[in-house]
Amino acid sequence: MNLILMGLPGAGKGTQAEQIVDKFGYPHISTGDMFRAAIKGGTPLGKKAKSFIDQGALVPDEVTIGIVNERLSESDTDKGFLLDGFPRTVEQAEALDQMMSEKGKKIDAVLYIRVDPEKLLTRLTGRRICSECGATYHLTFNPPAKEGVCDKCGGALNQRADDNEATVHERLQVNMSQQQPLLDFYEAKGSLKTINGDQQITDVFQEVSEILGVLTK
Ligand code: AP5
Repeated sequence: MNLILMGLPGAGKGTQAEQIVDKFGYPHISTGDMFRAAIKGGTPLGKKAKSFIDQGALVPDEVTIGIVNERLSESDTDKGFLLDGFPRTVEQAEALDQMMSEKGKKIDAVLYIRVDPEKLLTRLTGRRICSECGATYHLTFNPPAKEGVCDKCGGALNQRADDNEATVHERLQVNMSQQQPLLDFYEAKGSLKTINGDQQITDVFQEVSEILGVLTK
C-alpha cells in the first residue's frame, strides 16, 4: 500500500505513523523528520531548510519534491510506504503523481486526520520528543511515566524548536491556506479517507486500522 497521512500541524500524523509502522510495517517517510535530520547534520539541505522551518514557512516545492523523489527511489519503498507531511501543496501532489506514474505505481489512499484548528496550539506547545528514538509525547494528553524521560528508550524529552507559540501560529496559518485545495485534489480522485482526530489517540488509531484493514483485504 502506498499511503499519505494528511492533517494540520499537531493533528497527530507522527503519533499515528508510529503505530501504523508498528502494525503494518510500511517505511515511514516524514519530510519534517528528513529536514530536521539534515539540520542536525549541518548539510546543505539542512542549511537551506532551516530558515523556512524556523519561521513556520513551507520549504520551497522544488527542494521538497527533490528529496521525496530520491527517497521513493530506494528499494525499501517497493512494497509500499507511508508519506507523512507530503504533499502539502497541489504542486507537490502533481509532482508525486508524476513520480508514481514513472515508477508504475499509484497512491492507494490518503488518510486525512481532521482536528478542530483551535485545539492544535495546545497540542503543539505541549508536545515533547525523545532526543534518542524520536517518540512523541504530550505533557497532558500523552505524558511519559517519568517526567522528561522516554518510556521506550530512557532518552531525554525535548521541545521542538518550531513548537513555540509564535511559530505555531504561523505554521497553522500557512498550512490552513494550502490544505483545502489539496483535500479537493484527492477527493476528486476518490482516494480521500477522513478520520476524526478529535478523540483519544487509541480511538484515532482504531479508525485508521479499520480503514487499512479494509484496503489490505
Ligand atoms: P512537520 O514535522 O511535518 O510538522 P507539521 O506538519 O507541522 O506536523 P507536526 O509534526 O507538528 O504534527 P503531527 O501532525 O505529526 O502531530 P503529532 O503526532 O506530533 O514539518 C515541519 C516543517 O518542515 C514544516 O513547518 C515545514 O517548514 C517543513 N516541511 C515539512 N514537510 C514539508 C512539505 N511537504 N513542504 C514544505 N515544507 C515542509 O502530535 C502533536 C501533539 O499532539 C503531540 O504532543 C501528541 O502527543 C499529541 N496528540 C496526538 N494525537 C492526539 C490526540 N488524538 N489527542 C490528544 N493529543 C494528541
